[in-house]
Amino acid sequence: MNAPAVDGAPDSGRRRVVVGVAGGIAAYKSCALIRALTESGHQVRVVPTESALEFVGRATFEALSGNPVHTGVFTDVPQVPHVRLGQEADLVVIAPATADLMARAATGRADDLLSATLLTARCPVMFVPAMHTEMWEHPATVENVATLRRHGSIVVEPASGRLTGKDTGAGRLPEPDEIFALASLLLERADALPRDLAGRRLVISAGGTREPLDPVRFLGNRSSGKQGYALARLAAQRGAEVTLVAGAVAGLDDPAAVNVVKVQTAQQMGEAVTKHAVGADAVIMSAAVADFRPATFASSKIKKGAGEPDSIALTKNDDILAGLVQSRNDGNLSAETVIVGFAAETGDEQGDVLTYARAKLARKGCDLLVVNAVGDGKAFEVDHNDGWLLAADGSETALAHGSKALMASRVLDALRPLLPRPS
Ligand code: CTP
Repeated sequence: MNAPAVDGAPDSGRRRVVVGVAGGIAAYKSCALIRALTESGHQVRVVPTESALEFVGRATFEALSGNPVHTGVFTDVPQVPHVRLGQEADLVVIAPATADLMARAATGRADDLLSATLLTARCPVMFVPAMHTEMWEHPATVENVATLRRHGSIVVEPASGRLTGKDTGAGRLPEPDEIFALASLLLERADALPRDLAGRRLVISAGGTREPLDPVRFLGNRSSGKQGYALARLAAQRGAEVTLVAGAVAGLDDPAAVNVVKVQTAQQMGEAVTKHAVGADAVIMSAAVADFRPATFASSKIKKGAGEPDSIALTKNDDILAGLVQSRNDGNLSAETVIVGFAAETGDEQGDVLTYARAKLARKGCDLLVVNAVGDGKAFEVDHNDGWLLAADGSETALAHGSKALMASRVLDALRPLLPRPS
């Protein structure tokens, strides 16, 4: 029986999660994942392979999960753990998933507790690979990944970057926070990670812009970038090729398998988005772009001085979203490029949030507008959100309260049918 939802989010109560750990150096990172899951109130059973215990000791896994840890099927036989753990789980996450573990899973082996658990699980099963690039790209692994996906499992795209030793390339385990975010999303919504964006190119902007006043000061805003990062992470895990144009964000790690372009100002963001939008199937402007910038930039620090401070003259920044729509109208962008805007609104005596949002959708001319009510601790710097999705065809859908990852999954669901047919 599930405990009541935490923080108002559906299905974020206590759930049964099996964390499988295969034998790779990244096994140590599973400790942070196990801790995050238990701290969220979930009941965690760790099932390592024998070789995983070469990297992290059984006692560590037992202490972190608060549960006994076994690797074979002949312990606790009366409890039939090789069947029960999988049958009773709400989610199985294997992190790291090595090439060998995925080969065994793809061929249906059941020669230890973890592989047996994988055969009996009927909940979402998510493999988070970690291996050297050569192993990840080997045709045998490529086939095993395809087989696992065909069987209904999720195989996460690994990150690129530093591997063991001096190697760099694709095959790095995504950061534990990112695995936790994907696992939490699957607990909120079991079907949140289909591979339905394979072959698509998406450009997503995120975070706030910083408009410099002098070398040490800027005008900024409170956007954390969390919503845009959640969109980019999810789109990549749904198979898309994603460019994330990121302004100032709250210490977020780059999402795995995403091309991240860092910018500071609205002008830089405009240039990067416009460049990468060419040939993209969709552009999602979730960034909080500054409407104004200081009219002048002082090349040395402005001194306090003795008198009253000068006021700051402002000048308008270009509207990137409206510019994209204009480029599409002018034929500089493909007519089929889908353009999505975000609106953070507060109502006032003249109108409520939706009234302003409808006017914004019409004014900007985009295809979809994701609307969040802001103020009173809503939307900015928080992990949960709600809102509405307004479409150019006049349809309006309420987005129920949930994590920013859940919001992202709903936005991508709405976007997908609007995408051009693959050529
Ligand atoms: N946006 C943009 N370029 C700007 C300002 C906003 O591309 N210079 C985009 C945002 O990324 C978002 C959408 O426009 O997708 C709406 O942003 P918002 O700040 O809500 O709208 P504004 O046009 O600034 O309208 P207002 O502040 O008057 O509500």
